[in-house]
Amino acid sequence: MMLKERLAAEIPLWRERVRKLVKENGHVKVGEVNISQVYGGMRDVKGLVTDISYVDPVDGIRFRGYTIPELLEKLPKPEGAEMPYAGGLYYLFLIGALPSLEDAEEVEREWKARQAVPNYVFDIIRAMPPDTHPMTLFTQAVLALQSGSIFSTQYHHGLKKDEYWIPTLEDSLNLTAKLPTIATYIYRWKYKHGYFIPSNPDLDWGGNFAHMMGIPEEEYKDLSRLYFLLHSDHESGNVSAHATHLVGSSLADVYYATSSGLSGLAGPLHGLANQECLAWLLQVYNVYQGVPDREELRQFAWETLDSGRVIPGYGHAVLRKTDPRFTAQLEFGMKHMDTDDIFLLAKLVYEVVPDVLRDQGKAKDPWPNVDAISGSLQYHYGIKEFDFYTVMFGVSRALGVTANAVWARALSQPIERPKSLTTAMLEDIASKA
Ligand SMILES: CC(C)(COP(=O)(O)OP(=O)(O)OC[C@H]1O[C@@H](n2cnc3c(N)ncnc32)[C@H](O)[C@@H]1OP(=O)(O)O)[C@@H](O)C(=O)NCCC(=O)NCCS
Repeated sequence: MMLKERLAAEIPLWRERVRKLVKENGHVKVGEVNISQVYGGMRDVKGLVTDISYVDPVDGIRFRGYTIPELLEKLPKPEGAEMPYAGGLYYLFLIGALPSLEDAEEVEREWKARQAVPNYVFDIIRAMPPDTHPMTLFTQAVLALQSGSIFSTQYHHGLKKDEYWIPTLEDSLNLTAKLPTIATYIYRWKYKHGYFIPSNPDLDWGGNFAHMMGIPEEEYKDLSRLYFLLHSDHESGNVSAHATHLVGSSLADVYYATSSGLSGLAGPLHGLANQECLAWLLQVYNVYQGVPDREELRQFAWETLDSGRVIPGYGHAVLRKTDPRFTAQLEFGMKHMDTDDIFLLAKLVYEVVPDVLRDQGKAKDPWPNVDAISGSLQYHYGIKEFDFYTVMFGVSRALGVTANAVWARALSQPIERPKSLTTAMLEDIASKA
């Protein structure tokens, strides 16, 4: 397998690089931790390492050093498509270099060969009460695949530590290959009376997802490719990435680890933000019985702030400019739906709300993040079941977390074990400071 060969060439170089860094500079401090951070969710504590993505305060996310606009230009695309192959992105995550068209298509071929979902997984989904949250079904399906873990089987038969990454790569490809089918099965079962649309072998991973969703517009395939690229990875400290890494650090396989990350994604403070944004837009739309004018929107935004609530989709912990993931989706919308009211409203909010937030003077970043717009694009294509948005996020995020899992095993990252203190100990430290 091409990915395995290329990784086998890369990994020894990285192992040596990390070994040398730790041996020669292991004592060098990278930061300090204060009491606010210990009580404050470890915000900004530098305690993780990943080479797959980094959030730059100005450029936003960089995947393997490339910005979103660079990747949209440079990653190979299916013939006639506007947006890149997810397979090329996965290659970039794993190998660290831009793929050729051949490389991207090779990953897509690997996925196709591994995409069949065992029937018992569908049985599990169908056995659940119909009102089960789609994220519960999705997480269960991922966990149900665990019995097929090649890593677990090989580990129990004795596997050398420096080969852990090989079955982890197999598991990662096997799992990610199946996610479009599983996610769309859940969608069709829950919301479309169970009329399941079989996979189209001529389509790529992202395009096939769009096809199996049953969305007829051709450009929805491109929106899916774009969405999966934009949500795939966001450093390692966010809940889904960190939960996956933490669980994987116990040598639990990729199925256990990813399903833990997905459980984290299901929380309202993480993967659910995009649906809150759309709900806010629809609320504005309902109040004004259409798209309001600027002044009305300004007033509505102030009312939201004055009632002590936040404007969803605006602000960011790290970024200090418009999130390039927002811009990429805005550009897509301007090209494909520039007469859609909800999209136009999202665009108007972008023109009005940053000034309101600046006037209020609290938010450090008055600019939109990825969530300010993604829901409105899905809504345009008729995906109005908000609960499902997090599943799409999960399909995408699995690309990032599984690629990180391969590298965590390749670099023998150890079990995570931060130290905790008692409140009395912290009080004692404070009294002596
Ligand atoms: C994303 C977010 C959680 C970042 O939090 P953060 O790093 O603490 O942000 P800041 O340091 O700029 O916050 C400073 C103050 O501005 C406020 N603020 C930040 N973004 C705001 C927004 N969109 N609307 C209103 N107030 C906002 C904060 O609530 C905070 O107020 P406080 O001092 O009364 O507690 C925050 O901007 C937010 O809540 N945004 C809206 C929800 C959202 O879009 N979530 C999706 C995240 S990807």
